[in-house]
Amino acid sequence: MEKLKIRGGGQLVGRLRVQGAKNSVLPILAASILVQGESVLQNCPDLKDVDAAISILRHLGCKVKRQGKDVHIDSKAITRCDVPDDLMREMRSSVIFLGAILGRMGEAILSLPGGCELGPRPIDLHLEALRALGADLEEVGGNIVCRTEGLVGTEINLASPSVGATENVMLAAVCAKGETVITNAAREPEIVDLAAFLAASGARISGAGQSTITISGSGLGKSTTHRIMPDRIVASTYLSAVAFVGGRLELLDAEPTHLETLITALRAAGCEITVSGQDIQIESDGKLGAISPVITRPYPGFPTDAMPCLLAASVKAQGTTVFIENIFQNRYRYVEELRRMGAEIKLEGRVAVVTGISNLHGARVDATDLRGGAALVVAALGAEGETQIGEVHHIDRGYDSLEATLGGLGADIERVND
Ligand code: EPU
Repeated sequence: MEKLKIRGGGQLVGRLRVQGAKNSVLPILAASILVQGESVLQNCPDLKDVDAAISILRHLGCKVKRQGKDVHIDSKAITRCDVPDDLMREMRSSVIFLGAILGRMGEAILSLPGGCELGPRPIDLHLEALRALGADLEEVGGNIVCRTEGLVGTEINLASPSVGATENVMLAAVCAKGETVITNAAREPEIVDLAAFLAASGARISGAGQSTITISGSGLGKSTTHRIMPDRIVASTYLSAVAFVGGRLELLDAEPTHLETLITALRAAGCEITVSGQDIQIESDGKLGAISPVITRPYPGFPTDAMPCLLAASVKAQGTTVFIENIFQNRYRYVEELRRMGAEIKLEGRVAVVTGISNLHGARVDATDLRGGAALVVAALGAEGETQIGEVHHIDRGYDSLEATLGGLGADIERVND
Protein backbone atom coordinates (compact mmCIF):
# COMPACT_ATOMS: atom_id res chain seq x y z
CA MET A 1 0.00 0.00 0.00
CA GLU A 2 1.26 3.46 -0.86
CA LYS A 3 2.11 5.86 1.94
CA LEU A 4 3.46 9.36 2.21
CA LYS A 5 6.48 9.63 4.48
CA ILE A 6 7.07 13.16 5.74
CA ARG A 7 9.84 14.33 8.02
CA GLY A 8 8.65 17.64 9.42
CA GLY A 9 10.32 20.71 10.78
CA GLY A 10 11.75 22.54 7.77
CA GLN A 11 10.39 25.77 6.36
CA LEU A 12 8.80 25.95 2.90
CA VAL A 13 10.35 28.41 0.49
CA GLY A 14 9.78 28.97 -3.23
CA ARG A 15 7.20 29.68 -5.87
CA LEU A 16 4.63 27.55 -7.62
CA ARG A 17 1.84 27.79 -10.13
CA VAL A 18 -1.54 26.63 -8.84
CA GLN A 19 -3.03 23.61 -10.66
CA GLY A 20 -6.38 23.73 -12.47
CA ALA A 21 -9.43 23.28 -10.26
CA LYS A 22 -10.80 19.77 -9.79
CA ASN A 23 -14.29 21.05 -8.97
CA SER A 24 -14.30 23.15 -12.10
CA VAL A 25 -12.90 20.62 -14.57
CA LEU A 26 -15.35 17.86 -13.56
CA PRO A 27 -18.61 19.72 -14.42
CA ILE A 28 -16.94 21.18 -17.52
CA LEU A 29 -16.01 17.68 -18.70
CA ALA A 30 -19.69 16.78 -18.20
CA ALA A 31 -20.68 19.94 -20.12
CA SER A 32 -18.53 18.89 -23.08
CA ILE A 33 -21.18 16.21 -23.74
CA LEU A 34 -23.50 19.00 -24.88
CA VAL A 35 -21.12 20.41 -27.46
CA GLN A 36 -21.78 19.31 -31.04
CA GLY A 37 -18.09 19.56 -31.83
CA GLU A 38 -14.71 19.52 -30.16
CA SER A 39 -13.88 21.05 -26.78
CA VAL A 40 -10.31 21.67 -25.71
CA LEU A 41 -9.81 22.11 -21.98
CA GLN A 42 -6.49 23.59 -20.92
CA ASN A 43 -4.91 23.47 -17.46
CA CYS A 44 -6.58 20.14 -16.57
CA PRO A 45 -5.01 18.70 -13.44
CA ASP A 46 -3.73 15.14 -13.49
CA LEU A 47 -6.07 13.54 -10.94
CA LYS A 48 -7.87 10.25 -10.34
CA ASP A 49 -11.28 12.01 -10.53
CA VAL A 50 -10.39 13.52 -13.91
CA ASP A 51 -9.37 10.06 -15.20
CA ALA A 52 -12.71 8.71 -13.96
CA ALA A 53 -14.66 11.48 -15.73
CA ILE A 54 -12.73 10.79 -18.95
CA SER A 55 -13.60 7.08 -18.66
CA ILE A 56 -17.28 8.04 -18.40
CA LEU A 57 -17.01 10.26 -21.50
CA ARG A 58 -15.34 7.44 -23.47
CA HIS A 59 -18.02 4.97 -22.34
CA LEU A 60 -20.69 7.34 -23.69
CA GLY A 61 -18.97 7.43 -27.07
CA CYS A 62 -16.86 10.60 -26.89
CA LYS A 63 -13.37 10.58 -28.32
CA VAL A 64 -11.03 11.92 -25.65
CA LYS A 65 -7.33 12.66 -26.05
CA ARG A 66 -5.06 13.90 -23.30
CA GLN A 67 -1.92 15.87 -24.20
CA GLY A 68 -0.12 17.08 -21.10
CA LYS A 69 -2.53 19.42 -19.33
CA ASP A 70 -4.82 19.71 -22.37
CA VAL A 71 -7.81 17.42 -22.81
CA HIS A 72 -9.53 17.26 -26.23
CA ILE A 73 -13.08 15.94 -26.27
CA ASP A 74 -15.01 15.20 -29.44
CA SER A 75 -18.67 14.63 -28.50
CA LYS A 76 -20.16 14.42 -31.99
CA ALA A 77 -20.83 10.69 -31.87
CA ILE A 78 -22.32 10.01 -28.45
CA THR A 79 -24.11 6.67 -28.58
CA ARG A 80 -24.97 5.77 -25.01
CA CYS A 81 -26.89 7.34 -22.16
CA ASP A 82 -25.93 5.08 -19.25
CA VAL A 83 -23.08 5.27 -16.75
CA PRO A 84 -22.33 1.84 -15.30
CA ASP A 85 -22.04 1.36 -11.58
CA ASP A 86 -18.27 0.75 -11.52
CA LEU A 87 -17.61 4.08 -13.29
CA MET A 88 -20.09 5.92 -11.02
CA ARG A 89 -18.28 4.58 -7.96
CA GLU A 90 -14.88 5.80 -9.15
CA MET A 91 -15.95 9.41 -8.78
CA ARG A 92 -18.16 10.81 -6.03
CA SER A 93 -19.41 13.66 -8.14
CA SER A 94 -20.46 11.59 -11.16
CA VAL A 95 -24.08 12.67 -10.57
CA ILE A 96 -23.04 15.82 -12.43
CA PHE A 97 -23.33 13.77 -15.64
CA LEU A 98 -27.08 13.37 -15.12
CA GLY A 99 -28.22 16.78 -16.44
CA ALA A 100 -25.79 16.74 -19.35
CA ILE A 101 -26.63 13.21 -20.57
CA LEU A 102 -30.35 13.85 -20.17
CA GLY A 103 -30.07 17.14 -22.07
CA ARG A 104 -28.13 15.62 -24.94
CA MET A 105 -29.81 12.19 -25.23
CA GLY A 106 -33.29 12.71 -23.73
CA GLU A 107 -32.54 9.80 -21.41
CA ALA A 108 -29.98 9.08 -18.70
CA ILE A 109 -29.43 5.98 -16.59
CA LEU A 110 -27.08 6.31 -13.63
CA SER A 111 -26.65 4.21 -10.51
CA LEU A 112 -27.59 5.99 -7.29
CA PRO A 113 -24.64 7.50 -5.47
CA GLY A 114 -24.16 6.18 -1.95
CA GLY A 115 -22.95 8.14 1.05
CA CYS A 116 -19.32 9.21 1.22
CA GLU A 117 -16.63 10.00 3.75
CA LEU A 118 -18.25 13.37 4.47
CA GLY A 119 -21.61 11.84 5.43
CA PRO A 120 -24.75 11.21 3.37
CA ARG A 121 -24.69 12.90 -0.05
CA PRO A 122 -28.38 13.31 -0.99
CA ILE A 123 -29.29 14.39 -4.53
CA ASP A 124 -32.92 15.33 -3.89
CA LEU A 125 -32.37 18.92 -5.08
CA HIS A 126 -30.85 17.71 -8.37
CA LEU A 127 -33.79 15.37 -9.01
CA GLU A 128 -36.49 17.85 -8.00
CA ALA A 129 -35.03 20.46 -10.35
CA LEU A 130 -34.74 18.08 -13.30
CA ARG A 131 -38.34 17.01 -12.71
CA ALA A 132 -39.39 20.68 -12.83
CA LEU A 133 -37.65 20.95 -16.21
CA GLY A 134 -39.78 18.11 -17.54
CA ALA A 135 -37.88 14.92 -16.75
CA ASP A 136 -39.62 11.71 -15.64
CA LEU A 137 -37.58 9.97 -13.00
CA GLU A 138 -37.86 6.49 -11.62
CA GLU A 139 -35.69 4.21 -9.57
CA VAL A 140 -35.16 0.81 -11.15
CA GLY A 141 -32.93 -1.74 -9.45
CA GLY A 142 -30.64 0.82 -7.80
CA ASN A 143 -30.48 2.99 -10.93
CA ILE A 144 -32.06 6.36 -11.59
CA VAL A 145 -33.75 6.25 -14.95
CA CYS A 146 -34.40 9.75 -16.21
CA ARG A 147 -36.33 10.38 -19.44
CA THR A 148 -37.85 13.36 -21.16
CA GLU A 149 -39.94 14.07 -24.24
CA GLY A 150 -38.27 17.48 -24.26
CA LEU A 151 -37.06 19.71 -21.42
CA VAL A 152 -38.89 23.01 -20.95
CA GLY A 153 -37.38 26.02 -19.20
CA THR A 154 -38.94 27.12 -15.92
CA GLU A 155 -38.17 28.91 -12.66
CA ILE A 156 -36.28 26.74 -10.17
CA ASN A 157 -35.83 27.89 -6.61
CA LEU A 158 -33.23 25.70 -4.89
CA ALA A 159 -34.05 25.02 -1.24
CA SER A 160 -30.33 25.45 -0.52
CA PRO A 161 -27.57 26.74 -2.82
CA SER A 162 -26.16 23.32 -3.75
CA VAL A 163 -23.14 23.54 -6.07
CA GLY A 164 -23.85 20.23 -7.83
CA ALA A 165 -27.59 20.89 -8.22
CA THR A 166 -26.93 24.36 -9.67
CA GLU A 167 -24.49 22.81 -12.17
CA ASN A 168 -26.89 20.01 -13.13
CA VAL A 169 -29.70 22.48 -13.76
CA MET A 170 -27.43 24.73 -15.83
CA LEU A 171 -26.41 21.77 -18.00
CA ALA A 172 -29.94 20.49 -18.54
CA ALA A 173 -31.36 24.00 -19.04
CA VAL A 174 -28.99 24.68 -21.92
CA CYS A 175 -30.95 22.00 -23.83
CA ALA A 176 -34.42 23.06 -22.65
CA LYS A 177 -36.94 24.98 -24.73
CA GLY A 178 -37.23 28.56 -23.47
CA GLU A 179 -35.76 30.26 -20.45
CA THR A 180 -34.75 28.76 -17.09
CA VAL A 181 -34.22 30.97 -14.06
CA ILE A 182 -32.42 29.45 -11.07
CA THR A 183 -32.94 31.32 -7.81
CA ASN A 184 -30.92 30.67 -4.65
CA ALA A 185 -28.23 29.31 -6.98
CA ALA A 186 -24.75 28.48 -5.68
CA ARG A 187 -22.33 31.37 -6.23
CA GLU A 188 -19.04 29.45 -6.13
CA PRO A 189 -16.32 30.47 -8.62
CA GLU A 190 -16.61 27.00 -10.20
CA ILE A 191 -20.17 27.94 -11.28
CA VAL A 192 -18.75 31.03 -12.99
CA ASP A 193 -16.14 28.90 -14.77
CA LEU A 194 -18.80 26.44 -15.96
CA ALA A 195 -20.92 29.35 -17.25
CA ALA A 196 -17.88 30.76 -19.07
CA PHE A 197 -17.32 27.41 -20.82
CA LEU A 198 -21.02 27.14 -21.73
CA ALA A 199 -21.13 30.71 -23.05
CA ALA A 200 -17.98 30.17 -25.11
CA SER A 201 -19.67 27.09 -26.60
CA GLY A 202 -22.71 29.11 -27.64
CA ALA A 203 -25.04 29.14 -24.61
CA ARG A 204 -26.90 32.28 -23.56
CA ILE A 205 -26.42 32.47 -19.82
CA SER A 206 -26.25 35.33 -17.35
CA GLY A 207 -25.95 35.88 -13.60
CA ALA A 208 -23.41 33.14 -12.78
CA GLY A 209 -21.68 34.09 -9.51
CA GLN A 210 -24.91 35.66 -8.25
CA SER A 211 -27.95 34.05 -6.67
CA THR A 212 -30.08 34.24 -9.82
CA ILE A 213 -28.88 32.60 -13.02
CA THR A 214 -30.79 32.83 -16.29
CA ILE A 215 -30.24 30.35 -19.10
CA SER A 216 -31.88 30.54 -22.52
CA GLY A 217 -32.12 27.06 -23.89
CA SER A 218 -30.40 27.18 -27.22
CA GLY A 219 -28.09 24.16 -27.29
CA LEU A 220 -24.35 24.27 -27.69
CA GLY A 221 -23.03 24.57 -31.19
CA LYS A 222 -19.49 25.80 -31.15
CA SER A 223 -16.21 24.03 -30.72
CA THR A 224 -14.28 25.90 -28.08
CA THR A 225 -11.08 26.12 -26.06
CA HIS A 226 -11.36 26.91 -22.38
CA ARG A 227 -8.74 27.30 -19.65
CA ILE A 228 -9.77 25.76 -16.31
CA MET A 229 -9.58 28.23 -13.42
CA PRO A 230 -6.96 27.77 -10.68
CA ASP A 231 -7.84 25.48 -7.79
CA ARG A 232 -8.67 27.72 -4.83
CA ILE A 233 -8.64 24.79 -2.40
CA VAL A 234 -5.20 23.61 -3.50
CA ALA A 235 -4.00 27.22 -3.19
CA SER A 236 -5.46 27.38 0.32
CA THR A 237 -3.67 24.14 1.23
CA TYR A 238 -0.23 25.53 0.33
CA LEU A 239 -0.98 28.88 2.02
CA SER A 240 -2.03 27.07 5.21
CA ALA A 241 1.08 24.87 5.07
CA VAL A 242 3.44 27.85 4.84
CA ALA A 243 1.51 29.69 7.57
CA PHE A 244 1.98 26.66 9.81
CA VAL A 245 5.61 25.68 9.23
CA GLY A 246 6.98 29.11 8.32
CA GLY A 247 8.75 30.25 5.19
CA ARG A 248 7.94 32.25 2.09
CA LEU A 249 5.85 31.24 -0.88
CA GLU A 250 4.85 32.92 -4.09
CA LEU A 251 1.69 31.39 -5.52
CA LEU A 252 1.31 32.21 -9.19
CA ASP A 253 -2.00 32.20 -11.04
CA ALA A 254 -3.89 31.88 -7.76
CA GLU A 255 -6.91 34.19 -8.31
CA PRO A 256 -6.72 35.99 -4.93
CA THR A 257 -10.35 37.16 -5.06
CA HIS A 258 -11.41 33.51 -4.59
CA LEU A 259 -9.38 33.30 -1.38
CA GLU A 260 -10.41 36.42 0.50
CA THR A 261 -11.77 34.71 3.62
CA LEU A 262 -8.64 32.57 4.03
CA ILE A 263 -6.30 35.49 3.39
CA THR A 264 -8.15 37.55 6.03
CA ALA A 265 -7.85 34.71 8.58
CA LEU A 266 -4.14 34.15 7.92
CA ARG A 267 -3.34 37.88 8.06
CA ALA A 268 -5.17 38.15 11.39
CA ALA A 269 -3.03 35.24 12.66
CA GLY A 270 0.15 37.19 11.82
CA CYS A 271 1.12 36.07 8.30
CA GLU A 272 2.30 38.69 5.86
CA ILE A 273 0.34 38.34 2.65
CA THR A 274 0.80 40.48 -0.44
CA VAL A 275 -1.49 40.28 -3.42
CA SER A 276 -0.33 41.42 -6.80
CA GLY A 277 -2.58 40.75 -9.79
CA GLN A 278 -3.20 37.02 -9.90
CA ASP A 279 -0.31 36.20 -7.54
CA ILE A 280 -0.19 35.85 -3.79
CA GLN A 281 2.93 36.01 -1.64
CA ILE A 282 2.89 34.75 1.94
CA GLU A 283 5.57 35.00 4.61
CA SER A 284 5.24 33.39 8.00
CA ASP A 285 7.52 32.72 10.96
CA GLY A 286 5.38 29.69 11.79
CA LYS A 287 4.19 31.21 15.08
CA LEU A 288 0.54 31.92 14.49
CA GLY A 289 -1.41 34.24 16.73
CA ALA A 290 -4.98 33.53 17.76
CA ILE A 291 -7.33 32.85 14.85
CA SER A 292 -10.86 34.21 15.18
CA PRO A 293 -13.71 31.67 14.79
CA VAL A 294 -13.81 30.02 11.38
CA ILE A 295 -17.35 29.33 10.18
CA THR A 296 -17.89 27.52 6.89
CA ARG A 297 -20.65 28.79 4.62
CA PRO A 298 -21.51 28.69 0.92
CA TYR A 299 -19.40 31.09 -1.20
CA PRO A 300 -18.49 33.89 -0.57
CA GLY A 301 -18.28 32.47 2.97
CA PHE A 302 -15.34 30.45 4.24
CA PRO A 303 -15.07 27.27 2.09
CA THR A 304 -15.72 23.96 3.80
CA ASP A 305 -12.93 22.39 1.73
CA ALA A 306 -10.34 24.87 3.03
CA MET A 307 -11.21 24.33 6.67
CA PRO A 308 -9.31 21.07 7.43
CA CYS A 309 -5.92 22.51 6.40
CA LEU A 310 -6.50 25.74 8.34
CA LEU A 311 -7.55 23.68 11.35
CA ALA A 312 -4.30 21.69 11.06
CA ALA A 313 -2.38 24.97 10.85
CA SER A 314 -4.06 26.22 14.03
CA VAL A 315 -2.95 23.36 16.30
CA LYS A 316 0.08 25.34 17.48
CA ALA A 317 -1.59 28.77 17.32
CA GLN A 318 -1.88 30.92 20.44
CA GLY A 319 -4.91 30.23 22.62
CA THR A 320 -7.95 28.44 21.30
CA THR A 321 -9.52 28.47 17.85
CA VAL A 322 -13.14 27.58 17.18
CA PHE A 323 -14.24 25.99 13.90
CA ILE A 324 -17.89 25.56 12.92
CA GLU A 325 -18.75 23.34 9.95
CA ASN A 326 -22.08 24.14 8.33
CA ILE A 327 -21.94 22.28 5.01
CA PHE A 328 -21.17 18.59 5.62
CA GLN A 329 -22.24 16.43 8.57
CA ASN A 330 -19.17 14.27 8.84
CA ARG A 331 -16.25 16.52 8.11
CA TYR A 332 -14.12 15.94 11.22
CA ARG A 333 -12.93 12.35 10.80
CA TYR A 334 -9.33 13.49 10.35
CA VAL A 335 -9.39 15.11 13.81
CA GLU A 336 -8.81 11.72 15.45
CA GLU A 337 -5.68 11.33 13.28
CA LEU A 338 -4.43 14.81 14.26
CA ARG A 339 -4.88 13.81 17.90
CA ARG A 340 -2.52 10.87 17.30
CA MET A 341 0.08 13.50 16.45
CA GLY A 342 -0.53 15.26 19.77
CA ALA A 343 -3.10 17.89 18.72
CA GLU A 344 -5.60 19.00 21.37
CA ILE A 345 -8.98 19.22 19.71
CA LYS A 346 -12.44 18.91 21.28
CA LEU A 347 -15.35 18.03 19.04
CA GLU A 348 -19.02 18.61 19.64
CA GLY A 349 -21.28 18.14 16.64
CA ARG A 350 -20.42 20.82 14.11
CA VAL A 351 -17.96 22.58 16.43
CA ALA A 352 -14.25 21.86 16.88
CA VAL A 353 -12.23 23.69 19.51
CA VAL A 354 -8.47 23.59 19.02
CA THR A 355 -6.18 24.47 21.92
CA GLY A 356 -2.74 25.53 20.75
CA ILE A 357 0.11 23.30 21.91
CA SER A 358 3.85 23.85 21.58
CA ASN A 359 4.70 20.84 19.41
CA LEU A 360 3.24 18.10 17.27
CA HIS A 361 5.00 14.77 16.88
CA GLY A 362 5.13 12.42 13.91
CA ALA A 363 2.87 9.36 13.91
CA ARG A 364 1.32 6.70 11.67
CA VAL A 365 -1.99 8.09 10.47
CA ASP A 366 -4.50 7.45 7.69
CA ALA A 367 -6.15 9.91 5.31
CA THR A 368 -9.89 9.66 5.97
CA ASP A 369 -11.01 11.75 2.98
CA LEU A 370 -9.49 14.14 0.45
CA ARG A 371 -9.26 17.40 2.42
CA GLY A 372 -8.79 15.62 5.75
CA GLY A 373 -5.82 13.86 4.13
CA ALA A 374 -4.40 17.20 3.01
CA ALA A 375 -4.75 18.44 6.59
CA LEU A 376 -2.59 15.53 7.76
CA VAL A 377 0.06 16.51 5.20
CA VAL A 378 0.06 20.09 6.55
CA ALA A 379 0.32 18.82 10.13
CA ALA A 380 3.12 16.38 9.26
CA LEU A 381 5.16 19.17 7.61
CA GLY A 382 5.20 21.00 10.96
CA ALA A 383 5.57 17.98 13.26
CA GLU A 384 8.75 16.76 14.94
CA GLY A 385 10.01 13.49 13.46
CA GLU A 386 8.49 11.27 10.81
CA THR A 387 4.81 10.91 9.91
CA GLN A 388 3.52 8.12 7.68
CA ILE A 389 0.19 8.80 6.01
CA GLY A 390 -1.73 5.81 4.65
CA GLU A 391 -4.84 5.69 2.41
CA VAL A 392 -3.12 8.20 0.12
CA HIS A 393 -5.63 7.47 -2.67
CA HIS A 394 -8.01 9.94 -1.01
CA ILE A 395 -5.42 12.73 -1.37
CA ASP A 396 -4.63 11.74 -4.97
CA ARG A 397 -8.24 12.59 -5.92
CA GLY A 398 -7.47 16.28 -5.61
CA TYR A 399 -3.75 17.10 -5.61
CA ASP A 400 -1.64 16.93 -8.76
CA SER A 401 2.04 16.08 -8.09
CA LEU A 402 1.80 16.76 -4.36
CA GLU A 403 5.20 15.32 -3.38
CA ALA A 404 7.03 16.99 -6.26
CA THR A 405 5.39 20.34 -5.45
CA LEU A 406 6.14 20.22 -1.73
CA GLY A 407 9.60 18.70 -2.37
CA GLY A 408 10.31 21.68 -4.64
CA LEU A 409 9.57 24.00 -1.71
CA GLY A 410 12.06 22.13 0.49
CA ALA A 411 9.79 19.62 2.23
CA ASP A 412 11.17 16.20 3.12
CA ILE A 413 8.43 14.05 1.60
CA GLU A 414 8.40 10.79 -0.34
CA ARG A 415 5.90 8.19 -1.50
CA VAL A 416 6.75 4.70 -0.38
CA ASN A 417 5.26 1.27 -0.96
CA ASP A 418 4.70 -0.56 2.29
N1 EPU B 1 -27.34 18.57 -0.46
C1 EPU B 1 -28.60 18.05 -0.26
N2 EPU B 1 -29.33 17.67 -1.35
C2 EPU B 1 -28.85 17.80 -2.62
C3 EPU B 1 -27.58 18.34 -2.82
C4 EPU B 1 -26.83 18.73 -1.71
O1 EPU B 1 -29.05 17.92 0.87
O2 EPU B 1 -29.58 17.44 -3.56
C5 EPU B 1 -26.53 18.97 0.71
C6 EPU B 1 -25.25 18.13 0.79
O3 EPU B 1 -25.46 16.90 1.43
C7 EPU B 1 -24.31 19.02 1.57
C8 EPU B 1 -24.74 20.41 1.11
O4 EPU B 1 -26.04 20.28 0.55
O5 EPU B 1 -24.54 18.90 2.93
C9 EPU B 1 -23.82 21.05 0.08
O6 EPU B 1 -23.71 20.20 -1.04
P1 EPU B 1 -23.37 20.74 -2.50
O7 EPU B 1 -24.36 20.12 -3.43
O8 EPU B 1 -23.22 22.21 -2.49
O9 EPU B 1 -21.95 20.09 -2.73
P2 EPU B 1 -21.49 19.16 -3.92
O10 EPU B 1 -21.90 19.74 -5.21
O11 EPU B 1 -21.83 17.76 -3.63
C10 EPU B 1 -19.24 20.44 -4.25
C11 EPU B 1 -17.78 20.06 -4.28
C12 EPU B 1 -17.34 19.70 -2.88
C13 EPU B 1 -17.55 20.93 -1.97
C14 EPU B 1 -19.03 21.35 -2.02
C15 EPU B 1 -19.33 22.61 -1.22
C16 EPU B 1 -17.52 19.14 -6.47
C17 EPU B 1 -17.22 17.98 -7.33
N3 EPU B 1 -17.61 18.93 -5.17
O12 EPU B 1 -19.92 19.30 -3.78
O13 EPU B 1 -15.95 19.42 -2.95
O14 EPU B 1 -17.20 20.64 -0.66
O15 EPU B 1 -19.43 21.58 -3.39
O16 EPU B 1 -18.55 23.66 -1.66
O17 EPU B 1 -17.65 20.25 -6.98
C18 EPU B 1 -13.93 18.38 -2.36
O18 EPU B 1 -13.44 18.87 -3.39
O19 EPU B 1 -13.22 17.82 -1.48
C19 EPU B 1 -15.38 18.46 -2.14
C20 EPU B 1 -16.01 17.71 -1.26
